[in-house]
Amino acid sequence: MSTITALGHSCFQIETGDHTLLIDPFLTGNPQATVSAEDVNPDFIIVTHGHEDHVGDTVSIAKRTGATVISNFEIVNWLTAQGVENSHPQHLGGGFAHPFGHLKLTIAHHGSALPDGSYGGNPAGLLFTIDGKRIYHAGDTGLFYDMKLIEDEGIDVAILPIGDNFTMGPADSIKAINFLSPKTVIPMHYNTWPPIEQDVNAWVESVKAETSAEPVILAANESLDV
Ligand code: NI
Ligand code: MN
Repeated sequence: MSTITALGHSCFQIETGDHTLLIDPFLTGNPQATVSAEDVNPDFIIVTHGHEDHVGDTVSIAKRTGATVISNFEIVNWLTAQGVENSHPQHLGGGFAHPFGHLKLTIAHHGSALPDGSYGGNPAGLLFTIDGKRIYHAGDTGLFYDMKLIEDEGIDVAILPIGDNFTMGPADSIKAINFLSPKTVIPMHYNTWPPIEQDVNAWVESVKAETSAEPVILAANESLDV
């Protein structure tokens, strides 16, 4: 069993028992965050793309903890130049068996420029296989029909953006859920700032009415066992 904990916006922690993974550790300046960058102790950090609200505190947390940072090749090179010592580059379509489980980078339709304007390669989604469970964190993305290919992997938990404006919104997320057929779906990347405000209760009702997935809302610091 592993435990998924929301930390606000697109930041999630996955505890496997032996390892602590931190995805998109945007904590400093995150209006939804209830823990600070000094209070997390991951041994792996995974970054979906180069935008500030995803790279976030990666450099400071990695320097303090020695965590291995996994991201695309371009972002890993940039993080290394910022002084991050331990890293593992991957790229879209590529999977690797890490100590915590398997991670494959999937496509995402979005941008990936780094905070200083450096080229951040292409944005990614994350497909984890941990203790036989498949967890898909979509990163920032619009709807894409190739989610059908991810469905073939058998998704236990899908973590999808619903904020609209920068990513897919609630209506497209319903299509995404029906492409992915996850057992459970967790929304992210909404209500952080005014342009991505959404009525999450209305979204829950739509998920229940129009998909076979169970919607689970995780406020910051709330967890789901998988
Ligand atoms: Ni983004
Ligand atoms: Mn974002």
